[in-house]
Amino acid sequence: MSHSLFFFFASVFCLLRFGQHVMGQDTFDWNQITPSDSLAWVPCNTNFECARLTVPLDYKNPNVSTAAIALIRLPAGVPTNSSDYRGPLILGAGGPGGSGVDLVLANADLARAIIGPQFDLVGFDGRGISRSTPRASFFPTQAERAQFPAYLRSLNASEDAFGRAYADFTLQSSLARARDDGSLRFTNTESTARDMLKIVQAHGQKKVQYWGFSIGSVLGTTFAEMFPDKIERLVIDGVMDPEDYYSTSWLTNLHDTNQTWNIFLDGCVAAGPSACALYEPTAAAIQAKVDAFSKQLKTRPIAAITSLSSSTPSYHVVDYSMLRQTIFTALYTPYASFQPLATALHQLSLGNASALYEMSGLFASPYQCPANAAEAAQEEFSNLLDGQVAIQCNDGAAISTDFNDVKAHYEKLCATSPWCDVLLPRLTCLGWPKNSKDNVALSFTANTSFPMLAVSNTADPVTPHANGVKVSGNFPGSVLLTQDSPGHTSIAAPSTCTLLHIAAYFINGTLPASGTICPVDDGAELFPSGSSATQSAS
Ligand SMILES: *[C@@H]1O[C@H](CO)[C@@H](O)[C@H](O)[C@H]1NC(C)=O
Ligand SMILES: *[C@@H]1O[C@H](CO)[C@@H](O)[C@H](O)[C@H]1NC(C)=O
Ligand SMILES: *[C@@H]1O[C@H](CO)[C@@H](O)[C@H](O)[C@H]1NC(C)=O
Ligand SMILES: *[C@@H]1O[C@H](CO)[C@@H](O)[C@H](O)[C@H]1NC(C)=O
Ligand SMILES: *[C@@H]1O[C@H](CO)[C@@H](O)[C@H](O)[C@H]1NC(C)=O
Ligand SMILES: *[C@@H]1O[C@H](CO)[C@@H](O)[C@H](O)[C@H]1NC(C)=O
Ligand SMILES: *[C@@H]1O[C@H](CO)[C@@H](O)[C@H](O)[C@H]1NC(C)=O
Repeated sequence: MSHSLFFFFASVFCLLRFGQHVMGQDTFDWNQITPSDSLAWVPCNTNFECARLTVPLDYKNPNVSTAAIALIRLPAGVPTNSSDYRGPLILGAGGPGGSGVDLVLANADLARAIIGPQFDLVGFDGRGISRSTPRASFFPTQAERAQFPAYLRSLNASEDAFGRAYADFTLQSSLARARDDGSLRFTNTESTARDMLKIVQAHGQKKVQYWGFSIGSVLGTTFAEMFPDKIERLVIDGVMDPEDYYSTSWLTNLHDTNQTWNIFLDGCVAAGPSACALYEPTAAAIQAKVDAFSKQLKTRPIAAITSLSSSTPSYHVVDYSMLRQTIFTALYTPYASFQPLATALHQLSLGNASALYEMSGLFASPYQCPANAAEAAQEEFSNLLDGQVAIQCNDGAAISTDFNDVKAHYEKLCATSPWCDVLLPRLTCLGWPKNSKDNVALSFTANTSFPMLAVSNTADPVTPHANGVKVSGNFPGSVLLTQDSPGHTSIAAPSTCTLLHIAAYFINGTLPASGTICPVDDGAELFPSGSSATQSAS
């Protein structure tokens, strides 16, 4: 399995992140499909099939109004009447609010290479998300949306940074309330789990086969608890602590982030100056260098311009927030990102912010108006952060809006991790329009009809290993597979061992022995030698 496949797989996740989600390669006009309550697949995007499934908007009042769930599948490579055919396997995106359609579109070929041709590989956009309607959206126009901060600034960037985030998200919640057509409250994980059961049943199956990444693990564990006898196969990969999530605490995510960062520092030292541009003889010396220019950036941001010669030059002022978010993002995909991160940081230490700005591009890129009708049609179904906010805030318990309480919670998080300033989704729920709680009472345990397989990395920056231990321990029969690697979810690092275990689980129902630890493949390097790391001055 070549590394580049893994990097591609990982790159579309954009998990747990603020910022514009990446559009997949979708060229299909979803308006062509009239939603129906059976799965009527139509060809789309070359090898794929697309459908829109009608489900009740409100499962408690199913006849009042409907939602339309957008689905895509790569049909199985074996005839559906053959004994090899294994039915639909749903790939669950992270986010929350990530697009399962984009996930499958970009990764179905790779997933097929891992687990074989027996399955229809299915992805769906959760209710409220992207191509599923009604969509959660707090802004009636893109022009209005563009006035809102595109990504979370570091909460430590300046004296008013935390207060600004408090104000921004309070404002966003009031917009969400004002623009709600009555459908907003139904964008939640409980209803999505019911939708998933409908999808399985519409395929003519009784039980689910699911591989959920990151926040997709919350859908997996919620489904398992609501429908424990409907589990055929369930993999949760990059495990969230559902208890922490549903309490809107977000206090467990950053447990291993420092460790991931330390692997960057130690890896750079071990790689030497030819493979790591930021090289110093000790991790402490690299840390000191990073601390020094970080501190400087707080008061002296640096201008960056890229491709001035092209027709769409791009420019920005690289500040402390962009630095922190770019480093944090790189920790998700170490095998793809550590070496270029080291180069970008080295360049920054020399006063050149261009490379760092380019790395940050994903979430900092300015809004571009659609160039033509086709792009405008795509935009109608593009992924919005609003969906992420709607799910996590509808799912989560109500929180205090008292500024001191909110700040105290932040300091509690900071006591657990030096990375508290870049990830606190709880803030998006300040002043959120809470409705009477629809969620089933969750106890975070269940006896499932087939044992769950949990997968956790030893140094995952946002879904720490302890979460996998906890969740796996709560579901009798479940096994935790540990991948000894940094990065977010198993696919952030190349491990044939992990992939063989996942394939054996899906195909044969074989669980790894309890306590199994998979190494990354021989030859996989965080700082590949021979690559140009160029420590030379600019
Ligand atoms: C919803 O409609 C179906 C079919 O028309 C009917 O059988 C059912 O009783 C209705 N349910 C409610 C709650 O009104
Ligand atoms: C499966 O279906 C195809 C097409 O309908 C048919 O030609 C074939 O004989 C069937 N195979 C089996 C094993 O039933
Ligand atoms: C960020 O601010 C918090 C709370 O004031 C503090 O505890 C923490 O050390 C700061 N972290 C960084 C990286 O500046
Ligand atoms: C900054 O670095 C980029 C490469 O990342 C290079 O193209 C550019 O010329 C450098 N700018 C300056 C002012 O040295
Ligand atoms: C982060 O890692 C560094 C280097 O190992 C260590 O000195 C520091 O105490 C760690 N911080 C936390 C909060 O664990
Ligand atoms: C699971 O089954 C065991 C043994 O029958 C039982 O003791 C336990 O209460 C069950 N747990 C749940 C959550 O139903
Ligand atoms: C499933 O089991 C069969 C028979 O033991 C074996 O040959 C095959 O390799 C297994 N498949 C996977 C994906 O592990």
